[in-house]
Amino acid sequence: MVKVLFVCLGNICRSPVAEGVFNDLIQKHNLEDKISCDSAGTKGWHAGQLPDHRAIKNALDNGIALTHKGREIHATDLDAFDHIVVMDESNFKDVYEMYYKTKNTTPSTEKLFLLRDYDPKVTGVKEVPDPYYGSELDFEEVYHIIQRSCKALLDSLIEKHRLVEETI
Ligand code: 4NP
Repeated sequence: MVKVLFVCLGNICRSPVAEGVFNDLIQKHNLEDKISCDSAGTKGWHAGQLPDHRAIKNALDNGIALTHKGREIHATDLDAFDHIVVMDESNFKDVYEMYYKTKNTTPSTEKLFLLRDYDPKVTGVKEVPDPYYGSELDFEEVYHIIQRSCKALLDSLIEKHRLVEETI
């Protein structure tokens, strides 16, 4: 089983949307027994809470139901997940430092990377912007960034881990 962890700051806006979108793509590809995902925040401020109501509404409008309960990333996640996919540079720095402090070595680019490394439309800064202090329109923009990036990420992981058996 290939395991993916999506990480943002609070685990109530961006990473639970990425988890919901990625799970939907996993289901559509019938890959539930080969790849799974979860999400977490670098901070535990919203531990135990459902996502932000604006993220829930926006995702639902796009056909995705979010049920994740917030949690803080833990050192054990660094080994439990094959890929840790962060939303912005600040998340990257936090997880990178946690990894270095815990394991005395640096994470590979396959272990830890930005979601927008996979955004086919990215220009300039490769971050998923934080919509927490933004508008409904910002949540909609973030949804589409996450959707197209998750699609490209899953395609890449299918190839990398050879998740689909070839049929003759
Ligand atoms: P997220 O957004 O990292 O995408 O979940 C945020 C959620 C909460 C806060 C900041 C960002 N906060 O300050 O509580």
